[in-house]
Amino acid sequence: MGILSTKRIGIVLALVWLGIMVYLWFPNLLPGFASKSKNVDRGIYRAELFQMMRLNVSNLTDAVHVCITSDKDTIGGMIALINSIYTHSKHPVVFHLVSDEQSVEHVRTWIKETKLHDIIYEIKAFPSKWVEGKIKLRGGRPELGEPLNYARYYLPRLFPDLNGKVIFIDDDSIVQADVYELSQVNLKHGHIAAFSSDCTGGSKRLTMRKNIYADYIDFKNKKVKELNISPTECSFNTGVFVTDIDLWRKENITQKLEYWLELNTREEVYGNEIGGGGSQPPMMLVFYRNYTHLEPNWNIRYLGLTPGTSYTKSFLKEAKLIHWSGTFKPWGRTAQHSDIWDKYYIQDPSGKFEPIRRYNKG
Ligand SMILES: *[C@@H]1O[C@H](CO)[C@@H](O)[C@H](O)[C@H]1NC(C)=O
Ligand SMILES: *[C@@H]1O[C@H](CO)[C@@H](O)[C@H](O)[C@H]1NC(C)=O
Ligand SMILES: *[C@@H]1O[C@H](CO)[C@@H](O)[C@H](O)[C@H]1NC(C)=O
Ligand SMILES: *[C@@H]1O[C@H](CO)[C@@H](O)[C@H](O)[C@H]1NC(C)=O
Repeated sequence: MGILSTKRIGIVLALVWLGIMVYLWFPNLLPGFASKSKNVDRGIYRAELFQMMRLNVSNLTDAVHVCITSDKDTIGGMIALINSIYTHSKHPVVFHLVSDEQSVEHVRTWIKETKLHDIIYEIKAFPSKWVEGKIKLRGGRPELGEPLNYARYYLPRLFPDLNGKVIFIDDDSIVQADVYELSQVNLKHGHIAAFSSDCTGGSKRLTMRKNIYADYIDFKNKKVKELNISPTECSFNTGVFVTDIDLWRKENITQKLEYWLELNTREEVYGNEIGGGGSQPPMMLVFYRNYTHLEPNWNIRYLGLTPGTSYTKSFLKEAKLIHWSGTFKPWGRTAQHSDIWDKYYIQDPSGKFEPIRRYNKG
């Protein structure tokens, strides 16, 4: 008898569960609920439901998966970026966050105690030992040597349950459109990722560089020579990309990136050039002429190159993604168009992170 009733309860629970899942994930199948489904799409109530159902993010197969990496110095950027995506998304989004060990709890609190509390996310600490002894900068900007800058190489290892399309966005960006659209980019046959080329779209004329591989890579290096790549090939930006994480795994892209990372500590491969090193050159070597192009409007960049304004307000209004790549970050004192970023920034409830603004005292 006991066993029977347990079974019955099990069946009832399974049916209830199924009903909730259908309602949550396929709201369009239930036209009568269309008006309510907007909230559901935004992820409201989902976080709690997840815990209740003992599910994890790998079970959300039809959602848009977004990875963001950040350390204690830039963590406010991660929050503003999440908020911008959350604000404009009409589809379920799962955030896969990576930070340094000391920021994990900080981020959890920031999400829990603010309007972001309903987002679906997971957060991992990046094991900095993965890149220990593998980072060598020769000149350039010291922040490019931060371990978290290289976490993007390790997405399959950080998120072993994650499959399919994954979007990576630098934490010095904000999104002004539905990120679902970005996830719908078709990777061309044989391509593992999509990037924004430096030679098309509005970002081109602003760089003051030629936007070519020679800006980033040392073509005197023997191993680089063996690749037979063209120094005048157009570069691309690695701050925003869409990848098929299964293909990335299958093709050992992480190991390929590590190869160049390591080689650069022993030989001059990159880092002394105008590009200044960082995580960009190995990706340019691995994905040479082997990537799908993103629509330029999904990475309007170089806002951090100069403190002066280089884009008009009306141009930026049309941008789907705005990226402060360069030195002058939107949480710093002198960034251009930081008012756009401020719209999405959510004050840190623990008071540890504070953007520097002219109207702040001191
Ligand atoms: C996610 O849940 C599945 C079962 O639903 C389990 O097999 C898997 O190990 C879980 N992954 C993590 C990271 O908890
Ligand atoms: C959740 O995903 C895991 C794979 O990570 C799978 O093994 C499990 O069956 C899924 N659970 C449900 C309830 O769909
Ligand atoms: C990836 O690495 C594994 C283990 O080193 C190897 O067995 C496999 O052949 C590699 N795959 C490719 C496509 O290089
Ligand atoms: C493009 O990348 C894939 C996966 O790494 C590889 O199999 C293929 O040979 C590459 N194609 C070219 C033209 O380099």
